[in-house]
Amino acid sequence: MKKQTQANAPQKSGMRWSKYVKPYLPYFIVGPLCMIVEVIGEVLMPKFLSMIINYGISGQEIDSPVIAWLFNLFGEHSPFIIAIAVGMIITAVLMMLGGLGGAYFGAKAAVNFAADLRQDIYRKVQKFSFSNIDKFNTGSIVTRMTNDVTQLQNFVNMMLRMALRSPGMLIGALIMAILLKPSLTIVIAVAIPIIALCITLFIKVGFPRFTKMQSKIDGLNLNVQENITNVRVVKSFVREDYESKKFAAANADLKGAGRSAMLMMIIISPLMSFCMNAATIAVLWFGGNMVIAGEMLIGDLTAFVTYMTQILSSLMMVTMLFMQFSRAMASAKRIKEVMNEEIDITDDGVVGAGRELTVKYGEVEFRNVSFGYYKNREEKVLENIELHIPAGSTVGIIGSTGSGKSTLVSMIPRLYDVDAGEVLVDGVNVKNYTLHNLREGVGMVLQKNVLFSGTIEDNLRWGDGNADEQTVRRMADYAQADGFITSFKDGYKSELGQGGTNVSGGQKQRLCIARALLKRPKILILDDSTSAVDTATEAKIRHAFATELAGSTKIIIAQRITSVMNADKIVVINEGKITGVGTHAELLDTNTEYREIYESQMDGMVKAGIIDIKESEVRE
Ligand SMILES: Nc1ncnc2c1ncn2[C@@H]1O[C@H](COP(=O)(O)OP(=O)(O)OP(=O)(O)O)[C@@H](O)[C@H]1O
Ligand SMILES: [Mg+2]
Repeated sequence: MKKQTQANAPQKSGMRWSKYVKPYLPYFIVGPLCMIVEVIGEVLMPKFLSMIINYGISGQEIDSPVIAWLFNLFGEHSPFIIAIAVGMIITAVLMMLGGLGGAYFGAKAAVNFAADLRQDIYRKVQKFSFSNIDKFNTGSIVTRMTNDVTQLQNFVNMMLRMALRSPGMLIGALIMAILLKPSLTIVIAVAIPIIALCITLFIKVGFPRFTKMQSKIDGLNLNVQENITNVRVVKSFVREDYESKKFAAANADLKGAGRSAMLMMIIISPLMSFCMNAATIAVLWFGGNMVIAGEMLIGDLTAFVTYMTQILSSLMMVTMLFMQFSRAMASAKRIKEVMNEEIDITDDGVVGAGRELTVKYGEVEFRNVSFGYYKNREEKVLENIELHIPAGSTVGIIGSTGSGKSTLVSMIPRLYDVDAGEVLVDGVNVKNYTLHNLREGVGMVLQKNVLFSGTIEDNLRWGDGNADEQTVRRMADYAQADGFITSFKDGYKSELGQGGTNVSGGQKQRLCIARALLKRPKILILDDSTSAVDTATEAKIRHAFATELAGSTKIIIAQRITSVMNADKIVVINEGKITGVGTHAELLDTNTEYREIYESQMDGMVKAGIIDIKESEVRE
């Protein structure tokens, strides 16, 4: 019992960003340090320039001992300008190296950060249960893994380059400006709050707009994905126009959201430039008067203007950083949603010897099982299901569409977990097996099954990667697939299109069955897996199952009564409840629903002239 509560306990898996920073910590540190070198250079440059103007060009008297020392460094004959020029060149080289290093390490840190993050999201999504997947649509998962991660990558990159550089330049330039002319810094003191106000406004209005934009990208991706993967259906229904319109609508949606977000950027840049220009004019006005009055050197004024530009532009950089930050936060939130999604089906609670438990016999039992897809709603898809399936037997499940057949069998390999009651395999609750061991023992051919691009052999080997060629062929033969596979030019090496598009529906179903057989499962579940296979071939598959897979439990969901009439036991399901269990003959006598299905199908068969072939094969 204790085990069970553990298995059901929600997984606390709060996401930690530090995990993606730690391995690359040196890059995260060295990058910004390099940028500091660049900043120091940038702050020194205007000072050099002012010295050239003041002492080199204007011929100002030297009043500082440091400058006097510099002036005499190259001797009386060498012009002062050369000394300064050498200083400037050295600074420029250092700046270049700093800039290069900053960009290099910043990029390296960001790229690695993003790659690890993407990998983790992918891993997490692989662990998702069916109900987790139901919650996010695939388009959204793809956007989160690509676009959102890229947003974060850009942010990290920018952050590493700008986070120290911008404030560093701001402070450095401010100190230099104050040292040059404290009274003129009043202009800067007036400009800064105005710009800061713009930034705050920008963040307040911008953030929700960027969040909205990301969700519109989701919509677009969902649209594209659904369309392109199902392009054949779209074409067969001549829905290209409709789909194009649907895309146009999603695209227009994104355009609208993008425009409203971009509008912020469009407004903010000229606004900032205006503030900066106004401040420059003010400095030139007041500073110019000071120069005329002889209170300030012309070189100092030039340097002051440069410092002010540096201060205000680094403020703008900070804005950009914030903007990127707000976009990144929107993306981070979306990534966190995926990473912090509680995986409801895990085997974390299975400990000790329980981890070794495997499916040995294939006996299945449903004890008072109830289930609904929507946990917050009353309606149940399955209600009080009681069913015992002995090991090695063949059980047919029949019932109208939507009655809950697929749902019922999905409880066995824990694709979904029951809401109430329990499902036992070999007398042990399925929750007490590890997912790996349970699913190793249960081979399931899903109703909506797909093949993957690659060769036929690659696909079959999903069942067992180590199976030898002979086994692969034998299983394909049981599934009545060997014949058509060998008739292909490349046989087992034939390439399948994405989703198995270049084989027929019936061939695809047989390949899916062969793939499941290769797992040599103790419990084999076929969910409507022979619906596209002709009745004669289907009879052969049934025959192979009866003789070659005698030891496995076979659960067969079908629409055609002929597919299940030979089963040891047939289960009739209606609206999520079992309405009858018995052999074909018993059910014909006792279950009206079964009799009605039988009669309607037999009628059709007699009319189509199939019945004779059918009955003889079934007897065989
Ligand atoms: N992933 C899902 N999310 C929500 N509801 C679902 C989901 N899958 C199935 N349902 C609902 O559960 C009910 C039972 O579906 P289920 O697929 O088990 O029927 P079924 O008997 O297998 O039908 P069919 O013969 O058409 O395959 C249906 O009403 C269906 O709408
Ligand atoms: Mg179904």
